[in-house]
Amino acid sequence: MLKIVLLGAPGSGKGTQSAKLVERYGVPQVSTGDLLRNAVAEQTELGQKAKAAMDAGELVSDDIVVGMMRERLTQADTENGFILDGFPRTAAQAEALDELLAELDRPLQAVVHLQVDNEEIVGRLMARGRSDDNEDTIRNRLSVFSEQTAPLAEHYRKQGLLKEVHGMGEVDEIFARIEAALEDV
Ligand code: AP5
Repeated sequence: MLKIVLLGAPGSGKGTQSAKLVERYGVPQVSTGDLLRNAVAEQTELGQKAKAAMDAGELVSDDIVVGMMRERLTQADTENGFILDGFPRTAAQAEALDELLAELDRPLQAVVHLQVDNEEIVGRLMARGRSDDNEDTIRNRLSVFSEQTAPLAEHYRKQGLLKEVHGMGEVDEIFARIEAALEDV
């Protein structure tokens, strides 16, 4: 039973740490990036709408993403918990999530904010090479993050949910920090 958000810049390790959290706590990872990439690969109407924004490192519109997450979070496998990876990313998404979880009576327990230096991020993403991992798009994703997503830390700090975690170093070492941060939830 774990209901958390992983907040962090592109390349901060949200996907990597989510996989370990899934193993440890037995709840599903819900990644908006993965859901959107699947929609693009399957050429659904939603995927066609999302593709240009994703290629440019811009955010897909709030109404598309919120609609997609409303559908995903009302599926049975998330009833006992979830790890949200890459959502919310804007103030409007955070408000929509608050409303949805209140409606479902499934309050968040914590928001883990992974903190990693920009230069480390650029290095990690250039080494990976996903289609949106070229240098211009990475820089744009980082600036979108600092303008629209980083301010959400304050939203969750005010709710008493924010856990700041140093996200540099070995993957297992970072995971141990996350586990420690979640000990009291
Ligand atoms: P999304 O798929 O969410 O991408 P992102 O946030 O840019 O995050 P990444 O997947 O690049 O990084 P990550 O933090 O998961 O790190 P990872 O573990 O993979 O979103 C893609 C696009 O979809 C967005 O740009 C936007 O267009 C759209 N989108 C998604 N959600 C949206 C939303 N809510 N609203 C609107 N639009 C949305 O690690 C990265 C690399 O680093 C890997 O190669 C990994 O092996 C390596 N690594 C991880 N940890 C370490 C470590 N400790 N040391 C060294 N290397 C490491």
